[in-house]
Amino acid sequence: MSIIFVGLPGSGKTTIGRQLARRLGLPFVDSDHVIEARLGCSIREFFAREGEENFRDVEQQVLDDLSLNHQGVLATGGGAVLREVNRQHLHDRGHVIYLRSAPEDVYRRVRHDTGRPLLQVDDPMARLRALFESRDPLYRATAHHVIDTGRPSVATLVNMIIMQL
Ligand code: S3P
Repeated sequence: MSIIFVGLPGSGKTTIGRQLARRLGLPFVDSDHVIEARLGCSIREFFAREGEENFRDVEQQVLDDLSLNHQGVLATGGGAVLREVNRQHLHDRGHVIYLRSAPEDVYRRVRHDTGRPLLQVDDPMARLRALFESRDPLYRATAHHVIDTGRPSVATLVNMIIMQL
């Protein structure tokens, strides 16, 4: 059984997931890193060359594998909930935590980050608002717990999560 983080890009899945894993003495894995190792290139390069649907196919395979076999903490990519099959697998196989961040907070964290292909657009703020609107219900449907990331520090958020487990 694993603890699985879902949420928008930049909501803190990797940072908080890593800290939580350290506190609990569990292994941590980020599905995006596993995907990049499998692809042999960055997600950004793969997106540009092969397109989003091909990326989603690889993501589905990796999520299926990790949700079955990884015993520990798993951070997923922001689009992990887009496919029904992924939502089902994550929900059934792990304890899923949705890190719910307002688009404005996410923008503050990721605005200088060039590694996120979905945000390489003219108006990333509008893109984030649209992603939040369309995905918030999907993250909620996948998760067992919703944690609003808003103001609290990473350490406080980790404590809040430990109390909910
Ligand atoms: C994506 C989020 C990214 C990565 C890919 C697609 C998305 O992960 O999987 O670029 O669709 O939101 P992060 O949430 O870790 O940035």
